[in-house]
Amino acid sequence: MNPNKTLWEKGDFTRIAAGMRRSGEELVTDLGIRPGTQVLDLGSGDGTTAVPAARLGAEVLGVDIASNLVAAGNARAQAEGLENCRFQEGDASNLEDLEDDAFDVTVTIFGAMFAPKPFDVAGEMARVTRPGGRIVMGNWIPDDPTLVAQILKISSAYSPPPPEGFVSPMTWGVEQQVTERFGEAGVPAENVAFQRGTYRFEYPLPPAEVVGLFRDYYGPTMNAFAAAGENGRTADLEHELVALFEAQNESANGATSIPATFLRVTVSV
Ligand SMILES: C[S@@+](CC[C@H](N)C(=O)[O-])C[C@H]1O[C@@H](n2cnc3c(N)ncnc32)[C@H](O)[C@@H]1O
Repeated sequence: MNPNKTLWEKGDFTRIAAGMRRSGEELVTDLGIRPGTQVLDLGSGDGTTAVPAARLGAEVLGVDIASNLVAAGNARAQAEGLENCRFQEGDASNLEDLEDDAFDVTVTIFGAMFAPKPFDVAGEMARVTRPGGRIVMGNWIPDDPTLVAQILKISSAYSPPPPEGFVSPMTWGVEQQVTERFGEAGVPAENVAFQRGTYRFEYPLPPAEVVGLFRDYYGPTMNAFAAAGENGRTADLEHELVALFEAQNESANGATSIPATFLRVTVSV
C-alpha cells in the first residue's frame, strides 16, 4: 500500500477544508481564469479551489491521491450542477494518465507539496502545463510562526523520526529548493516568482473544538495523536495544540478565525 495514499484516506479532509472555502475562492479570482480555461487542480482534495474555478467557467480536472476526497469532490460538483468540473485519482509524482501540454493553469494549493519525489512532481507539473501556461503552488513555510507550520512543529515533537531518505513536504516552502526543482524540470529561475499569501481557517466553533476536528479527521494530526498515545502523552499534545489555536485565533465571537502565511509560487512555463 502507498503510505502517502493511506495517510490522506485515513481521515476526512473535507471536515478541515470546510473552514478554508473563503480563501480558496479568493485565490481563484486572480488566476486569470476565463470561460474555457483548462485547469488542473493537483492534490485537489474535495475542490476548495477546483469548484470555484469551475464556477468561473474553467474546464477543471481535480486530481487527488485519496479516493474518498475524489468522491467528495465529484459529489460537490454534481450538487452544484458543474459539468465542467470532475475529479479523478492520481499521484502528483506520476501523472501517467495526463497528456503533455494539456492545461493552461496547473494549481496546487497545499496539495502537490505532500507528494513524495519532489523533483518528479515539478517535472510532471511542467510536462502537463502548456508552454505559455502557468503553475501556481501554495506551499506552507517551514518554521513560520503561523498556524500550519506550528501544528507540524508541535506534532513532530510527539512523533517518531521520519524514515531514512524522507523529504519533508515543508521543503516546498523554501524558495531555493523550489527554484532548483523547477530548474531540473527545464524551467529557468527567472520564470519562477514568489510571494507571501494568507489563508484563513474559519469555523463556527471555538478553537478547542477545531483542534478536535484536526485530531479526528486530519491524517497528519491523527498520526501525531496515535504516537503521543503510545507514550501516554495525548493530553500534552492536546494542550499544546489548543494553546496554539487559542493564541492565534482572531475571532471575537467565540468562533475560530486563524490566518496562516504561505508561499505562493508562480511558474511561467
Ligand atoms: C492539505 S490537503 C489540501 C487539499 C486541497 N488542495 C485544499 O486546498 O483543500 C492535501 C491534499 O493533497 C493530496 N495529496 C497528498 N499526496 C498526494 C499525491 N501524491 N498526489 C496527489 N494528491 C496528493 C491529499 O489527498 C489531500 O487532498
